[in-house]
Formats: sequence, structure tokens, C-alpha cells
Amino acid sequence: MPISSPVTRSRRAMMYVPGSDENKIVKSATLGLDCAILDLEDGVAFNRKDEARGVIRQALERVDFGRTERLVRINPLYSGRAEQDLAAVLPGKPDAILIPKADSAAIVVAVEKIISAFEQSQGWQEGEIALALLIESASAFVNLAEICRASARVQALVFGAEDFCADTGVTRTNSARELLYARSALVLHAAAFQLQAIDMVQINYRDTALLEAECRDAVELGFSGKTVVHPSQVGPVQRAFTPSDSLIAYAREIVHGAELAQRGGSGVFTHQGKLVDLPVVKRAEQILARARAAGIEV
Ligand code: COA
Ligand code: MG
Repeated sequence: MPISSPVTRSRRAMMYVPGSDENKIVKSATLGLDCAILDLEDGVAFNRKDEARGVIRQALERVDFGRTERLVRINPLYSGRAEQDLAAVLPGKPDAILIPKADSAAIVVAVEKIISAFEQSQGWQEGEIALALLIESASAFVNLAEICRASARVQALVFGAEDFCADTGVTRTNSARELLYARSALVLHAAAFQLQAIDMVQINYRDTALLEAECRDAVELGFSGKTVVHPSQVGPVQRAFTPSDSLIAYAREIVHGAELAQRGGSGVFTHQGKLVDLPVVKRAEQILARARAAGIEV
């Protein structure tokens, strides 16, 4: 989570759930998951798109997701399916739409317009349905600043590593060193535009050690969450993106120490032999905000 980013909603694990599979959708509502991505794109066969639209619409209307955010991943605009996807799912009032192949600002603006027109037609408060964007092509990275500015609804950038590799010729390895530039570019743009940065999927969903190593990298790179494809990945990912007890204790000491120092007329103080100045205090406040967003009392 970028320092400047307002942490209003925890998006530690965002799980793809095939939109054609009602059982998986129902299950996703029972896992204590931060975000369920009800998928109409790659997770659904071409001949089942219509059926999936209906299943998702019904689930939005009938399934109690509790605190789990309900996103719908529509098909790419260029596929000619996105308009029908939106027409089918918007009446169920999803919390957010995830736009795949968000390669240009024009794509974001086009989806935004459809959502705004629908909200107006229903008399709903405008702007309540958020946008998350899949950044997964070379073009998307080249256009990223413009894409981030395209709509005030945008709350999160999601890195789509598999499509990114297919688009660029990058070879995916377990170390993910080949993705460092792209992952960092995404985090920096998210920070600049006060958005959340969400990391790629680890498709090898049985390898928990690999997932945990990738989560540690993602936390250090500045991501605030990660996309997943299987329930077994939810626990490890949500733990990795929740500040630990010792980190929370440290952050409280820093914030408290800063208050005392300010009262005493000083902008800096020493904590366990290390100088603490404003950026360190900001980091500590951010850790506490992340913990609160994850439901921890601090
Ligand atoms: N969302 C919700 N529930 C899921 C799930 C998912 N993504 N993946 C698995 N489950 C459920 C299964 O239905 C099963 O439930 P049950 O015990 O109530 O029957 C349980 O979790 C265990 O699943 P498991 O048997 O280990 O896996 P599976 O063979 O059913 O499914 C995949 C494996 C990979 C097909 C499945 O995880 C999946 O579809 N993932 C999403 C893939 C996707 O959307 N990709 C596109 C984006 S990258
Ligand atoms: Mg994809």
C-alpha cells in the first residue's frame, strides 16, 4: 500500500471465481475472503458466457457475501462482449467492475460511461460502483499514467502476469526477476495516483512455499494485495498482507513517540537507537491503517 493511499477497503486476497460455476461462487462467499472476482473472461468457456452472466446476476442478487467485496471481471472491450456483460450484471449492483486488458484510457472511459448511464437510469448514487484495472500488456504500461487518470472510480491496479508475458515475450520463472520492472512500475503509478497495487496470480496453486515467497516479495515491492485462483491460497495471502503483531506494536510505539516529541517541541526522536523523522512516522501510520482495514483493533 503506497504511503499516500487512503486505505478504505482491504483488498489483500482477490480470488478469481469462474462465473459459470455456481458452487464455486457460493463457496467464495464463505471463506472470509476480502474480494471475490466473479469472472466472465478467461475463466469461462466461450460457449458458456451467456449462462455465466445469468449465474453471476443471480448470485449478486441472492448470495450473502458478508464483508467479501463482489467484483465482476467483464470481457475485454474489443471482444464485443463487454456491453452485454455490463447489461447483465449491473442490475445486481456489484461493488466493482474489473476491466481486463485495460490498455488505454479510452477503454476505461468507455466502461465508465456505460456504468454512469446505468446508475443514472436507476436513480442510484453516481460513482458507487468502483473500477479495478488489469494492467497486463506492454501498451498498458506505456499508457499507465493516462489510464490512472481516466476515471475517478478507479481504486486498484491489478498486475496480470500471464497475459503480460504472452504480450511481451517475457519468460515466466519462479524467481519472477523478469517481472521486477513491471511490478515496480505498477506500484509506483498506484502510489502516484493513490490507488491500490494488487500483485499477480501464482498459478501453481499447490505450492504454498512458492506462494509465500512471492507474497514476501510483493509486500517488499509495495503491493497491498494479490490475486489468487484457489481457496487454499486465501489464508497465506491474507496473512502475508496483514501487518504482524510485532510490526503493529512497533508502529504504535513510533506514532506515540512522535506525539510526545512534537509536544516537547521536536520533529525527530530516537527509537531503539534509530532516528525517527516524518517519513518513518508516516510509514507507521500506514501500517496501522492497513491493520485497521484488515479488521484489527489498533
Ligand atoms: N473459487 C471458489 N471455489 C473454488 C475455487 C475458486 N477459484 N477453486 C476451487 N474451489 C473450490 C472447489 O469447488 C472445491 O469445493 P468443494 O470442496 O466444495 O467441492 C474446493 O474449492 C477444492 O477445490 P479443488 O478440488 O482443489 O480444485 P478444483 O479441481 O475444483 O478446481 C481449479 C481447480 C484450478 C479449476 C479452480 O481452482 C479454478 O477454477 N480456479 C480459478 C481459475 C480461474 O478463474 N482462472 C482465470 C483467472 S487467472
Ligand atoms: Mg487473462
